[in-house]
Amino acid sequence: MKQLQGRDILGIADLSSEELHSLLKFAQQLKKGAVKPKCDRVLGLLFYKASTRTRVSFSVAMYHLGGQVIDLNPKVTQVGRGEPIEDTARILDRYLDILAIRTFAQKDLETFAEYADIPIINALSDLEHPCQILADLLTMQECFGSLAGKTLTYVGDGNNVAHSLLLGGALAGVNVRVATPESYQPDSAIVEKAKQLATQGSEIVITDDPIAAVTGAQVVYTDVWASMGQEDSAATRIPLFQPYQVNDELMSHADSDAIVLHCLPAHRGEEITDSIMEGKQSRVWDQAENRLHAQKALLACLLGY
Ligand code: CP
Ligand code: NVA
Repeated sequence: MKQLQGRDILGIADLSSEELHSLLKFAQQLKKGAVKPKCDRVLGLLFYKASTRTRVSFSVAMYHLGGQVIDLNPKVTQVGRGEPIEDTARILDRYLDILAIRTFAQKDLETFAEYADIPIINALSDLEHPCQILADLLTMQECFGSLAGKTLTYVGDGNNVAHSLLLGGALAGVNVRVATPESYQPDSAIVEKAKQLATQGSEIVITDDPIAAVTGAQVVYTDVWASMGQEDSAATRIPLFQPYQVNDELMSHADSDAIVLHCLPAHRGEEITDSIMEGKQSRVWDQAENRLHAQKALLACLLGY
């Protein structure tokens, strides 16, 4: 089909009858896998919420693996106009090899997974942020040489990141303590699941006492007090969450060589002080870099490389 190279196809009749038949034949061969283009793996990114790290690290990871990326921005695709997930999922399944979705409801991810056979990756939902936790655990492993028996204390809002830390920590043998104001504790079903997953003996603790929680911890972790979609309640949260700020005073109760992690973006002066973000215990930049490496591994495994 060399003769089509560089041509405009603005209407079907821009093709001759012969070219049309040849094109259909070629499409059939591609579908059967009889012809394999060099880079034939495509990742779709369907993000209903803002993202810098996840979007860029997934894209770069896929490029490093020799694949391609399509940004399915909901503002310019039919999903943003209400096309049902059941329909969208079945269509995207026919085009893409893998799809990373950032959305609100976990149920929506489940519906995508039910209706599409390609791997669906949660790139953050209101319930979980699993890719973040892969990078967090990788960072801990680099810093301490191993994970089992280490204690990670999360202080702040019992949100998606806290949920995935509870579950991921339990799976990795990490003790996870979560300190939040009483009415902002993590989902009880997630806490229960984490306890069930803690078969390597990791301890799961939920408390409202930030000082007790960080005492003896090797990792102190925080995240924004109001997540994406909760902006309206941000102002009312600030005074309630003040005792959970990661600052010099709170860090004085952790292990002297404890590291500080934050999934970012951070609100300096709220959940974390500038001096801690920029201080010698902070590993937030390595942690952010590890998003790339962890997700590259995930993509490669899911794609069967
Ligand atoms: N930590 C994280 O997921 O960052 P982004 O929102 O920038 O992707
Ligand atoms: N809990 C935050 C994480 C951002 C990466 C949010 O959901 O907005």
